[in-house]
Amino acid sequence: MSDTVFPVPADIAENALIDKDAYRDLYQQSVDDPDGFWARHGKRIDWIRPYTKVKNTSYDYHNVSIKWFEDGTLNVSANCVDRHLEKRAGQAAIIWEGDDPSEHKVITYQELYAEVNRFANVLREAGAKKGDRITLYLPMIPEAAYAMLACARIGAIHSIVFGGFSPDSLAGRIEDCGSTLVVTADEGLRGGRKVPLKANVDAACDRLSGHEPKVIVVKRTGGDIKMKDGRDVWYHEAAENVSDRCEPEEMSAEDPLFILYTSGSTGKPKGVLHTSGGYLVYASMTHQYVFDYHDGEVYWCTADVGWVTGHSYIVYGPLANGATTLMFEGIPTYPDASRFWQVIDKHKVNIFYTAPTAIRSLMGAGEEMVTKTSRKSLRVLGSVGEPINPEAWMWYYNVVGDKRCPIVDTWWQTETGGILITPLPGATDLKPGSATLPFFGVQPAVVDAEGNILEGATEGNLVILDSWPGQMRTVYGDHDRFVQTYFATYKGMYFSGDGCRRDADGYYWITGRVDDVINVSGHRMGTAEVESALVAHPKVAEAAVVGYPHDLKGQGIYAYVTLMEGEEPTDELKKELVTWVRKEIGPIASPDLIQFSPGLPKTRSGKIMRRILRKIAEDSFDNLGDTSTLADPGVVGDLIDNRQNRA
Ligand code: PRX
Repeated sequence: MSDTVFPVPADIAENALIDKDAYRDLYQQSVDDPDGFWARHGKRIDWIRPYTKVKNTSYDYHNVSIKWFEDGTLNVSANCVDRHLEKRAGQAAIIWEGDDPSEHKVITYQELYAEVNRFANVLREAGAKKGDRITLYLPMIPEAAYAMLACARIGAIHSIVFGGFSPDSLAGRIEDCGSTLVVTADEGLRGGRKVPLKANVDAACDRLSGHEPKVIVVKRTGGDIKMKDGRDVWYHEAAENVSDRCEPEEMSAEDPLFILYTSGSTGKPKGVLHTSGGYLVYASMTHQYVFDYHDGEVYWCTADVGWVTGHSYIVYGPLANGATTLMFEGIPTYPDASRFWQVIDKHKVNIFYTAPTAIRSLMGAGEEMVTKTSRKSLRVLGSVGEPINPEAWMWYYNVVGDKRCPIVDTWWQTETGGILITPLPGATDLKPGSATLPFFGVQPAVVDAEGNILEGATEGNLVILDSWPGQMRTVYGDHDRFVQTYFATYKGMYFSGDGCRRDADGYYWITGRVDDVINVSGHRMGTAEVESALVAHPKVAEAAVVGYPHDLKGQGIYAYVTLMEGEEPTDELKKELVTWVRKEIGPIASPDLIQFSPGLPKTRSGKIMRRILRKIAEDSFDNLGDTSTLADPGVVGDLIDNRQNRA
């Protein structure tokens, strides 16, 4: 890790919304008097009925309950669209850049208003009403944002499923939240390749037991798809028959806004539930201050709306702030590895927010791909999704940002709704690889395995001691799972699942997950999910999956597989298993390495000792720790001898 310090650049400090003194003062206020602080800052959005209560939260293990602004009412879509019409009707709300560089579109706030209203009426026409769950399985097209805001407008709860998930994964998510409606597109387009979204929805619907949702289909490519009578409707046809006015529903601050499924250490993905008021206050406030967003700037977050980053920092945060947000349909390497930098020049992007995995893959394409572009418009750079290694940080800073632009390394999670630990461009001196300091209202702490709070420079597990408005409220349909997952390990604290180090300056350095969650190219994956996909294959008896360090992806997926008696461990079978997992979960879950292992290290009670498997996958054979409790210590030697990339 690097200890070099990059001070706040003078020109940034001069115009910044928050400078060093302001950060110190506001942070102090936010922890000394959370009620007073958030009572003031909650007013940054428009309320229909103003709140009189601010914070009502309990981290008590026996009674976890999180409510913010609970007696206020509002509508999130009116906050993201209607309220800007007076001042910004003609300003670009969304700049959409297509997969093919010849395609782009600018959508003004006035146009966004009409589109969202129309979309909301199409949803209503299809029977959707307040409280219904609507699954969105869409590519990165403006309709994805319209659909989200349309749900918010009528008080329906959206559940976005990333287009890279398989029909099985999609079906599981539709079923879990009981969606009555699915919005999709005929096909997606990424890197010149078509993604069969509607065909996947058809396959998902075939797997549903009990109910069949209606399906609304946006035409993107015009590809050949099947429409099922009575179930499927084309969006463009439905939209012809509705008005472009739809009154926003008055929602309570604690009414749900969306569900987003995310992987945990055990079991199926959890439906993380976020509500309306606190989420929007937090997403908009962090967007403004973390990126030092000034009116009129062009802001680009390269995430997909299928992930929380897309929710908070492509759609809700920026639009609540009346910003211009760029939405990109494609991938960083199409038509070539200069695409990001060309888009920055084309649309004069001022603030650019991406993931370390993208940076690392573009570093490999050579500096010339970057330096042949101007990038003069850039002012602030951001990073999210996984720890950024100092080499990638330095390249991002030196080559992409021409040593002018601060990098905000933002640590947060699907569960946190918004950024929790981050530099602020005008206030925080940077250290490459450190997420630095907490945002207003956030009280991080480092604990040891027993939950003792450690002081000063130290290392341990990262917890948060008190609630912030953007925090998830529950796991959809399973509050007990919410409590067990986040509040049971260390009583009275929110446990993040991450490990971290705090240095002598109080800076936080996130070291990665300490549970059975792995982070592959910034995508979160539960090892248990990959294992259950593998054991569903008829030739597999048992599987154990761990993460291992991967140069480009951050972590790769390493699968130890025990075959059924009599099955041959061939290379063909490895390929078959990779294809199988892709089909079961989706391409993002593809195992990078599969090692056939006749036996797995187990305790005498039959528990697989993943610690050992992790070490072997990392090639650190010398400190395997105590193996004496293993039922058969001999398997460890076999596993090492057959370590995948040496075999
Ligand atoms: O391990 C942390 C890592 O990503 C996890 C959260 O993943 P997800 O819910 O998919 O949300 C990703 C986008 C917010 C965290 O538990 N992570 C995220 N940002 C960082 C990070 N690790 C280190 N540094 C970051 N800036």
